[in-house]
Amino acid sequence: MGSLVSLSPLLLCVLFLLSSLPSPILSASVRCNPEDYKTLMRIKKSLNNPYHLASWIPNTDCCNWYCVECDDNTNRITQFTIFQSNLSGQIPAAVGDLPYLDTVVFRKLPNLYGSIPSSITKLQNLKMLRLSWNNLSGPIPGFLGQLKNLEYLDLAFNRFSGQIPASLADLSKLAALHLDRNRLTGAIPDSFGRFKVDTQKSLYSGFYLYLSHNQLSGVIPKSLGEVNLITVDVSRNKLVGDASVLFNPNGTTQTIDLSRNQFDFDLSGVKFPKTLIDLELSHNIIRGSIPEEITGLELLQGLNVSYNRLCGQIPVGGNMNRFGYDSFFHNRCLCGQPLPNCK
Ligand SMILES: *[C@@H]1O[C@H](CO)[C@@H](O)[C@H](O)[C@H]1NC(C)=O
Ligand SMILES: *[C@@H]1O[C@H](CO)[C@@H](O)[C@H](O)[C@H]1NC(C)=O
Ligand SMILES: *[C@@H]1O[C@H](CO)[C@@H](O)[C@H](O)[C@H]1NC(C)=O
Ligand SMILES: *[C@@H]1O[C@H](CO)[C@@H](O)[C@H](O)[C@H]1NC(C)=O
Repeated sequence: MGSLVSLSPLLLCVLFLLSSLPSPILSASVRCNPEDYKTLMRIKKSLNNPYHLASWIPNTDCCNWYCVECDDNTNRITQFTIFQSNLSGQIPAAVGDLPYLDTVVFRKLPNLYGSIPSSITKLQNLKMLRLSWNNLSGPIPGFLGQLKNLEYLDLAFNRFSGQIPASLADLSKLAALHLDRNRLTGAIPDSFGRFKVDTQKSLYSGFYLYLSHNQLSGVIPKSLGEVNLITVDVSRNKLVGDASVLFNPNGTTQTIDLSRNQFDFDLSGVKFPKTLIDLELSHNIIRGSIPEEITGLELLQGLNVSYNRLCGQIPVGGNMNRFGYDSFFHNRCLCGQPLPNCK
């Protein structure tokens, strides 16, 4: 009994000494998977050993490195996030050799250029791919449709050009698609009507679609009316025709932004979803009058129908008194508060 008690402080001291030594010596406690380690070293090299990855020191535990996360059970790299750096180069193809990744983020890297490597399709556990605010270019590759577990795809603020591949609709778990602020042309694919968020299985309560600030043309596919949209932003494109299919009175849509296109339809008959918070329609060729039902939208916080061809009295009541002159001006013959009285 006595000898055990007297040994304990020594034992503690040895343990403390061991734990304070650099990890390579305590090789049993290194969590980093050797394959992942090798792949990360290749990635670092192909990004020209950037300052941003200075913590990636050879022969240390990669699970402690900046920009990566290891899973607690498997010790495999599950997240790779490079954010806000001046590093220069292309997305390393070796990223596809980290098979346990569920999250890949290359964001706010103004000197990251080139295209998305096809090796990324090897990442069949990937749920989130964010490659936004970079200098990526070329077409959006159709092979992204092979990432069957993807829930969130963000390619916004780059220089992607060409048409949106119809195959993105193969992403049956996708709930958020950000393709805004690129140079995309052509039509919104008909296939997008297949996006449907299973709210029983998904963390998302519906679909978030951002296509603004491109050069998209053509009409809104009718099929898009079948999607349980929470947000749809197609502003600042060259879209034409009838967009009323985006208004589903039984839906749960919160934001609809159609501004700065050439949409041409009659607003009078449109039935709004009760969940609408923000409705932006400015700078189109929308005609008819504002439906009286708009006064029943209890959640409405933003409204802009300026620069269209609307007529008739602006409905009174509900949240309508929140909106001023510049929500309604530049229409053909809208009248009543906050515009001049009707004649
Ligand atoms: C990148 O940023 C690092 C750290 O802020 C700096 O030391 C380096 O000079 C920068 N490199 C370039 C090319 O701007
Ligand atoms: C992006 O790439 C283009 C063409 O390669 C180049 O002209 C431009 O300077 C780049 N932008 C930035 C922010 O590096
Ligand atoms: C909305 O629901 C009502 C009642 O369930 C139904 O009659 C109507 O067809 C639905 N409208 C749409 C556009 O789904
Ligand atoms: C509505 O849009 C017009 C045109 O873009 C803009 O001038 C005006 O400030 C906007 N009004 C509000 C309330 O945002």
